This record gives sequence, structure tokens and C-alpha cells, in this order.
Amino acid sequence: MLKLTHFLLVIAVLLFAARLCQAECIPEHAPPQPNQDALARLLKAQDRCPVTTNDFLNLVERNGAKLEPTMVNFLGFHNPDSGVFFLFQIVSGRLSGLNLSVERGDLLFGHFLTANDRSQLVLETGGLLIEAIAWDPAKQLFNFYELTQAKDCKQPGAHWCYRGDSRLILEDIEFLYRPRDAGQKPFQNRLRCSGCHVNGGLVQKELASPHNDWDITSHKLPRGSLTPDATVAKILQGLVDAAELTKLVQASSRRLAASPEYRKALQSRSMQEQLRPLFCAVELNIESDHDPFDQHKPAVQIPAGFFVDPRLGASSIAIPRENYEQALQKLRSHMPDKPVPTDADHAWLTPVKADSDVVMIEALVQMGMVDSEFVADVLAVDFTEPLFSASRCRLLRLVPPGGPDFLTRFETNLKASSEPAAKQLLDNLTDPKRDAKFHRQQAADYLDACQKRATKPEAAVEWFGLLAQRRAEVDREELSQHPRGHILESPDRVVFPSASPPGGRLGLTPSCEIRPQ
Ligand code: HEC
Repeated sequence: MLKLTHFLLVIAVLLFAARLCQAECIPEHAPPQPNQDALARLLKAQDRCPVTTNDFLNLVERNGAKLEPTMVNFLGFHNPDSGVFFLFQIVSGRLSGLNLSVERGDLLFGHFLTANDRSQLVLETGGLLIEAIAWDPAKQLFNFYELTQAKDCKQPGAHWCYRGDSRLILEDIEFLYRPRDAGQKPFQNRLRCSGCHVNGGLVQKELASPHNDWDITSHKLPRGSLTPDATVAKILQGLVDAAELTKLVQASSRRLAASPEYRKALQSRSMQEQLRPLFCAVELNIESDHDPFDQHKPAVQIPAGFFVDPRLGASSIAIPRENYEQALQKLRSHMPDKPVPTDADHAWLTPVKADSDVVMIEALVQMGMVDSEFVADVLAVDFTEPLFSASRCRLLRLVPPGGPDFLTRFETNLKASSEPAAKQLLDNLTDPKRDAKFHRQQAADYLDACQKRATKPEAAVEWFGLLAQRRAEVDREELSQHPRGHILESPDRVVFPSASPPGGRLGLTPSCEIRPQ
């Protein structure tokens, strides 16, 4: 009897040892059909999960991959002393242990810096440690992961968690900007990432140059009074220009929009969901004057996307610097919680139509779901409001299910509506004179009118008031209703200067004058 017990014990020990030998790192909540992205494969090859940021950085480097970090100041360009910098790392190269080649754009991860009590700039070691997005070549979608101490992963300690993929994000935003029953929400909150990566891929808010709060090779972020510890100093030595991230963010929406699997997921959903980025703002970008405010250039360049959607037109419109400074003063512009500086690092930071929204609609045109005349007809509705047009976005609710006679059924719905925007879209769709060329001409006339007003001091004050309104609007939009994160990362992230917008809601007329709406 004793012998048998002994024997069983030996077997148990052997089994346990065998398990230990085979142990691998599988993120919590991973799907039954294993993910095939570079991160899942790298972790799987480890017998123990890396559970600190430093362990993970070492693991990637030990495997021979290249890391290219980009960096943004979470509290604004001129505000380095709290040490709240976010790093977004581009992984590429051959992962030696895995015989796997990682292209730039296949695997990116973000992690965070903070100040310790010895005035050092160090890696953040609490709460959320790493966020990662990786392209899954089998699914042809992006996978979203975190290394986190959050309660909804596994307790206690830090663990890797798979949060879902681009398809789950599409499901999560099913009701965004759409008619809803009681209990239905714009975001279903099945994953946190959908609050900001709303189109299912990579994001960079300040996508266009000069990338206001980012580290640029020719315009470095001030580091402030903190001394980086050895780990951080090494990372900072390798910093690359924010434009390197930009290329991959732009490519990610195109990759997703061209993915047969993503297209399948998109086409299995309603026409309202497919056309949503045309009528409404699903994501957004932030643009600004090109030159730093402190360079005191004689003119302030207003980003073209402030005036009109890039698909209808673009014009370089600048206002005299002194008019701009008067407008700053008049509307009491200042960075949040501080009287100075009066502005961000670049003037005229403005939310604009997201590149990813434009790409998603280009894909629909390619797929033959709609044509470019239809796109121009929709954009021409309330075209002086290129990003948040409540009247244009409400028309999404009138979009019928897809299928035969889609356009006729849409026109019937528009006819039955009492909204002026519905009448306008109906005219655009049915009047052969109102084609894309006509809409572009209308936009060109309006941009000419803006150009003519640009040197007038009152134009600077009026347009700046509208800018202040649009900045404040972002957080009130349906886009910002995810319970676990908003595109502006409010309230913590410092993006825009504060200013007091004039009372009442303002809009621009086709003659580029401000009118209450
Ligand atoms: C509150 C908004 C928000 C949420 C929620 C969010 N992100 Fe992001 N994420 C951003 C922004 C914004 C950037 C780019 C930085 C910038 O523009 O300032 C970014 C960048 C990234 C990057 C670097 C690559 C890229 O897209 O530029 C990764 C990786 C990433 N996020 C992963 C995740 C994952 C995984 C989740 C969910 C677990 C998530 N994020 C949730 C806002 C968010």
C-alpha cells in the first residue's frame, strides 16, 4: 500500500514537472482559437509571463527586435515637471527565438513614465503597465492587449489580458450615433479600447505635422527638472520622430479597410454602421498652425480642415498674428489651471475630421457600397461644419437597411422627414446639377470668402470663438460617451487651452461669417 502511494506521488511530481517545462504565457481571456499575432507568439514562447514593463522591454530586446520609441507629453508640451510622458514603441525585426519577422506596424505598445520622490523620471510601476496592439495575420485584424493590475483582468498582481480585436470594437460601437431603445448605449463597453480606437486600428490624435505635444527630432519635448533613471535614459536615447508613428497609424486604417476579413465583418453590419464615418465623427484628429507659437511668426496659419472637409476643398488661410493675440486675450485663453502660457505650443489647435474616417469611406466606395457622388452629396450638407454637424449626423438615422433599391428607400425616408438637412440631402441626391463638382465649387467660393475676411480683426475674434466652441464640444459629443475613456483622454490629458466661448451656439455662413445657430 505504501508502495502504491509512493508510486502515485512520484507520478504526480513528474506530471507537475512536465507541466512546468511546458509552461507558457497565455494572456487572460485569450480566445480558444489562439491568436497568431507577434505578441501572442512571443508570450507563448515564455515559460513565465513578463509582469513588469522592464521585463517586457528586456524580453523584446533579448529576442533581437528593434524598438523605436515615440513620446508625447500627456500634460502638454510646456509642462514636463510632473513627468507624465507616454511612450509608444514601434517593434520590428526578426524575433530570433520564434523565427518570426515583425514588420513595422505589426506590433506597437505604449507604456508610461512618472516622477518618483527623488525627482527622477522613471517607468510607471502601478495600475496599467503596457497597452499593445498587434496585427493578427490569421484573423487579418488587430488584437488589443494590456499588461495591467486592473480588477477586470486577474487578481492579484499584474497580468497580460487580451481585450478583443477590431471586430469586437465594431460590435461594441453598434449603436453609436444610431437610434437606440431604452438600455442601449452608444458604446457597449465590452472593451475599454473602443472609446478611443473607435475605428478598430491605431490612433494618433495629432496625426498631421507639427504633432503639437510630441517629441519631434527638430523640436524636442522639454524634459524639465527631472533626471531620468538609467532605464528611462536608455529609452530616451533611442527616441524617434513622432512622424514615424504617424506613418504606421495612417497605414493601419488602410490595412484594416483593405482586409477581406474586416470588410466581411463590416458588410455583415447595417448600412448605418457602415456609413457612420461619413455622416458623423467616429474618430477625430487635431491640427494646428505649423510654427511654434513662441517663434512669433507674423501670421497664424489656420488648418484647412477647420473650414471644410478635405474631400470638398482646402485652402491656406492665415490671419495676422496681432489679430490672433487679441482674440486670445479677448476670450481669456490660457492653459488649464495656469494663467500662462496663453496658448499651446502651436496656435489654433483644432479638432478636424479623422484620417481613419475618410479611409473607411474610401473603402466603401471601392467596395461599391456607395459612389463618390453620394459621398460628396452628404458632405455638402452643412459643409461649413466639417467635423461635428448635428444636422448631418442626425441624417444617419434615416439610412435604411442595405439591399436592392437602397438609394430609393433612402430618398423616401428623406422625403418623409421634416428636417431641413434631409431636404438638402434629397436635393443633392436628386438634382443632377448638384454633383460633386458643384459641391466643390460651393466650397471653393466659401474658402474664397474666408480668405477675403482673414485680415480683418473681427474675423479672428469670431473664428476663434468658434474654435473655442468646437474644442469644448468634443467632450459633449456622443463619441465621448464611452464610460471608460474619451478620445481627448479627458479629464486628465491636457490638450486644448481653455477659453471662454461666446454665449449661444455659433456656426459659419457660406460667406464665412459667424451666425448663431
Ligand atoms: C482614452 C482613450 C484611449 C483608450 C481608452 C485607449 N487608447 Fe490606446 N491610444 C490612445 C491615444 C490617443 C493614442 C495615441 C497617443 C496620442 O494621440 O496622444 C493611443 C495609442 C495606443 C498605442 C500605440 C499605437 C497607436 O495606436 O498609436 C497602443 C498600442 C494602444 N494605444 C493600445 C491601446 C489598448 C490595447 C487599449 C485598450 C486596452 C487602448 N489603447 C485604449 C487613446 C486611448
